[in-house]
Amino acid sequence: MKNFLQTNVIFLLIMVILSGCSPYYLAFLSLPRDPSDQQERDVLSVDEKQKVVFHGNQKSKKIALTFDDGPDHRYTVRILDILRKHHVSATFFVLGKLARKNPQILKRMVKEGHTIGNHSWSHTDFTKLNQKEITQQLAMTNREIQKWTGKTPLFFRPPFGAMDRLVVDAVSEQGYAVIYWDVDTKDWQGKSADKIIQTVKKNMHAGSIILFHSAGGPKSLDGTIQALPKLISFLQKQGYELVTIDQLIDLPAYRQN
Ligand code: NI
Repeated sequence: MKNFLQTNVIFLLIMVILSGCSPYYLAFLSLPRDPSDQQERDVLSVDEKQKVVFHGNQKSKKIALTFDDGPDHRYTVRILDILRKHHVSATFFVLGKLARKNPQILKRMVKEGHTIGNHSWSHTDFTKLNQKEITQQLAMTNREIQKWTGKTPLFFRPPFGAMDRLVVDAVSEQGYAVIYWDVDTKDWQGKSADKIIQTVKKNMHAGSIILFHSAGGPKSLDGTIQALPKLISFLQKQGYELVTIDQLIDLPAYRQN
């Protein structure tokens, strides 16, 4: 009996200590910078989800290859070489700051029939930005793309795929279509070509938008480079037409100037 009481007292003491600490600990972990704001922003409503494109018509045998985070001289140009060799058009979601550094690659993309989309200026998480900062990131990037190609993109892909109500609303109010994906190769993690091919085969269907990367990140994109020719052949043999996003979803890629 004495033992039982002792155990209980110790247990109670531990509980008291824990309950005294945990509210602070939990509050510290979960408190958003502005609670009401953050909750407002967190969940996408049905309306907002409809403003985001995850795939094209699932009855039409078309698939869009998309490449984020370029342009660079290390991988983007090699991807462009592969696409040219196989006569395939794709969509590149580029960063404004890299577009400024590598304008010749941008020009090449357009010349070779690819579509360019806006992936922000500096690959910043848009859910951490206010409306003014979002507008700035979009406008600076589009200005850079416009300067070198004469095209003003209307497709936007959120960096990190991070989006909330404010992001989707702010971006679509400015006339952009938010382009997501339904097949994520996770190639930026340095995946092997085999793994990338396996992921695509397992998850793709008619109308799919497949996410690859053409630059950025510390890991190698050699897997992407090696997988690409094999994937293109595989998809074509299966009867899929590889198209740009504007061809997949029948929306204009650029502002009519
Ligand atoms: Ni990205």
